[in-house]
Amino acid sequence: MSAKSRLLVTLLLPLSSSLCHVPSTGAGNNSSQPCKATPGSASWPPEADWARFNQSLGGVLLRPSPPGAVCHPGQPTYNADQCATVATAWTTYDFHSNDPISNMWNQYSNDSCLPNVTYPCSPAGYPAYAVNATTPEHIKLSFQYARKKNVRVVVKSTGHDYQGRSIAPGALTIWIHHMQGLQTHTSFQPKGCNFSIEGNAVTAAGATQMGTLYEELDKINQTVVGGGGKTVAVGGFITGGGHSILAPRYGLAADQVLEIELVTPTGEFVIANECQNQDLFWAMRGGGGSTFGVATSITMSTHPSPKIVSLDIVFASYEIGAAWFWDMIGYMLSQYAYLDSKGISGYSFIYPNVSNSLDGGKTHVSAFVGSFILQDTQNTGDVQAIWKPMVDHIEAEWPQTVHGNTSVAYASFLDWYGPGGHFDQGTAGADIYVASHLLNSGALTDPSATLQAWKTFSSVGGSGNAYLVAGHGVNNAKPRGGGNAVGPAWRKALVHATNGIAFRPLDPAARAKALVDVNASVEPLRKLAPDMGAYVNENNPAEPDWRHSFWGDNYDRLRKIKRAVDPLDTLWCHPCVGNERWKEVGYELCRVKGYEL
Ligand SMILES: Cc1cc2nc3c(=O)[nH]c(=O)nc-3n(C[C@H](O)[C@H](O)[C@H](O)COP(=O)(O)OP(=O)(O)OC[C@H]3O[C@@H](n4cnc5c(N)ncnc54)[C@H](O)[C@@H]3O)c2cc1C
Ligand SMILES: *[C@@H]1O[C@H](CO)[C@@H](O)[C@H](O)[C@H]1NC(C)=O
Ligand SMILES: *[C@@H]1O[C@H](CO)[C@@H](O)[C@H](O)[C@H]1NC(C)=O
Ligand SMILES: *[C@@H]1O[C@H](CO)[C@@H](O)[C@H](O)[C@H]1NC(C)=O
Ligand SMILES: *[C@@H]1O[C@H](CO)[C@@H](O)[C@H](O)[C@H]1NC(C)=O
Ligand SMILES: *[C@@H]1O[C@H](CO)[C@@H](O)[C@H](O)[C@H]1NC(C)=O
Ligand SMILES: *[C@@H]1O[C@H](CO)[C@@H](O)[C@H](O)[C@H]1NC(C)=O
Ligand SMILES: *[C@@H]1O[C@H](CO)[C@@H](O)[C@H](O)[C@H]1NC(C)=O
Ligand SMILES: *[C@@H]1O[C@H](CO)[C@@H](O)[C@H](O)[C@H]1NC(C)=O
Ligand SMILES: *[C@@H]1O[C@H](CO)[C@@H](O)[C@H](O)[C@H]1NC(C)=O
Ligand SMILES: *[C@@H]1O[C@H](CO)[C@@H](O)[C@H](O)[C@H]1NC(C)=O
Ligand SMILES: *[C@@H]1O[C@H](CO)[C@@H](O)[C@H](O)[C@H]1NC(C)=O
Repeated sequence: MSAKSRLLVTLLLPLSSSLCHVPSTGAGNNSSQPCKATPGSASWPPEADWARFNQSLGGVLLRPSPPGAVCHPGQPTYNADQCATVATAWTTYDFHSNDPISNMWNQYSNDSCLPNVTYPCSPAGYPAYAVNATTPEHIKLSFQYARKKNVRVVVKSTGHDYQGRSIAPGALTIWIHHMQGLQTHTSFQPKGCNFSIEGNAVTAAGATQMGTLYEELDKINQTVVGGGGKTVAVGGFITGGGHSILAPRYGLAADQVLEIELVTPTGEFVIANECQNQDLFWAMRGGGGSTFGVATSITMSTHPSPKIVSLDIVFASYEIGAAWFWDMIGYMLSQYAYLDSKGISGYSFIYPNVSNSLDGGKTHVSAFVGSFILQDTQNTGDVQAIWKPMVDHIEAEWPQTVHGNTSVAYASFLDWYGPGGHFDQGTAGADIYVASHLLNSGALTDPSATLQAWKTFSSVGGSGNAYLVAGHGVNNAKPRGGGNAVGPAWRKALVHATNGIAFRPLDPAARAKALVDVNASVEPLRKLAPDMGAYVNENNPAEPDWRHSFWGDNYDRLRKIKRAVDPLDTLWCHPCVGNERWKEVGYELCRVKGYEL
């Protein structure tokens, strides 16, 4: 491996209509309580209730301990050997993905039981019970029980969620992880429609993960508009919108959807498509996870797996923070509309100061690192030709730039993604807030304005990332049924800008500061692109006016649909549509004044 490609590898590693049914809620609700029941309190259901519930479920009720408890003497599951295993696995996506209650980002369990003996451990920050749901009936029974017993409920698939929407203290978790599997089609008739939609499609169970989809579809030379992380699952991904390196060609993941089967919070099993339950079909495609129901299966269009030429690239400055480096960044981003027009898509990372593996980390550099692709070709010259005018400009204008690249031809999407090592290789198990803002091409045309904003945006967490994952395919997408709930900013977006900041666990001041800092770092981008918004799936709880930032003018319709399908707020999360009637008070979820029943 050449020194240049070592630099590349090291730098890439930190990558990190109307409702047809009438809701039947009324009887048996327990909506008069000011707060949801908490474990240990008088209103918490007695064991005998849980046992009956378990029986009704056929025995799939779990009472999981916090996974980190194996490291803590005094906890029932303490086990020194397992502690070492868990502590090591804690940074992997798989570990949290396979656990019934864990979330990947520690602060959402309030760091309350990390796998380190020097830290405290209590189950209080974790859900109390989990249903290992494999059928719509399990989900329905869970909603019914939670409503009747006034128990808070969350939906967990993998726990990837950056906003902690899949975990809550004292909750009943509907754990859908084992609802996996898929079926392919060459044409698909949405149920209740008198026509078929021609073309390849896949029906995936609600917790099917990206890695599985890519691998299974590759067997028939197809692929999906999917995400970078192998373990990210379709349910949370598509309900948030779902960006992809293939989105600039085909639109977002939510734009590929032909039909969704779901269980609503009132316990109805519903088929939503352009011919029935159109409101839910619209809302479930971008309106947010765990808000309108639990998707048990999603049918979406698939596409021929493209041949790909990659371009992994670095432009660096040994002079850290040099004014010319930022000029180059401003110029680079001003060319993204050109790159999109030529069919280039990908991810880029702007590091103000990053370890330089060219000399074994002895020095640091400011660097632009990119991972781009061009589809339908095996000729690396094609991608080089597109970049040539840019490289010529950079070399002429900023000759101090050190640059290197590797360009490789891959026979399929899967080859690029898996063996090619372009899947998300970041780590989990940390305390991290991420932020985002969507940028239209107009916001990037003035290099001097762009570079100023990016200086601030990159100043926290080590990098500011510019993902070229929107562009023409997303702007011109034609979702079935005439539209979906994806935030309107996506339809004008070229780039999804994102960053992230890690902070010390068990330090409330550090946590609060991280949130303030990450939020403040986005402010210049908000000013640069004021009529845009942010991406709900890659954000944090401090997003100002999040309802409109995530959903724009779609918000009011989404809120009406939420009220119609979930009048009692059986599903509640933050930041989620229609959540204003409840707030978290310590570990409790309580009614907001004025919304008491
Ligand atoms: C490593 C990594 C890589 C990522 N890459 C991308 C990317 O390339 N593109 C992108 O757009 N995003 C990406 N994301 C963000 C990702 O879209 C979100 O984390 C998403 O919420 C994950 O969904 P999930 O179902 O896997 O996770 P979960 O945490 O289990 O669920 C997320 C939310 O969806 C709800 N939910 C889950 N399943 C269902 C269902 N079946 N029906 C209804 N609600 C459901 C949950 O209750 C929760 O509100 C990435 C995240 C990580 C950590
Ligand atoms: C909840 O139940 C009570 C009594 O069972 C009923 O009066 C009330 O209308 C119900 N509320 C809703 C929103 O269904
Ligand atoms: C509502 O909660 C109260 C207090 O926990 C309980 O006594 C009552 O039986 C519950 N009602 C229903 C319908 O479950
Ligand atoms: C639910 O029932 C199954 C089988 O009867 C049992 O193994 C399991 O421990 C029970 N769950 C709880 C939380 O008690
Ligand atoms: C546990 O946390 C302490 C304090 O932060 C740290 O010094 C130590 O290295 C950690 N131990 C393990 C095994 O990670
Ligand atoms: C959950 O259910 C699946 C499918 O039945 C089973 O394979 C798995 O072992 C169960 N997990 C737990 C923790 O009970
Ligand atoms: C399909 O249904 C629509 C609306 O109900 C109707 O107008 C149309 O004629 C039908 N088409 C066929 C081919 O049956
Ligand atoms: C997939 O493509 C390969 C290579 O072009 C071809 O040999 C194979 O037959 C195709 N498989 C299917 C199922 O179409
Ligand atoms: C760059 O980062 C390194 C390591 O954190 C630090 O030692 C160095 O001072 C930084 N350089 C500048 C110019 O900030
Ligand atoms: C890639 O590297 C080659 C060889 O150094 C160089 O000629 C070319 O301009 C580079 N391309 C890009 C896009 O940086
Ligand atoms: C986030 O930023 C907005 C706009 O600058 C500001 O109004 C808000 O107070 C900030 N929130 C936090 C928690 O810092
Ligand atoms: C979260 O943990 C901190 C200690 O790190 C504690 O002070 C705080 O009370 C906890 N939060 C809740 C809601 O209990």
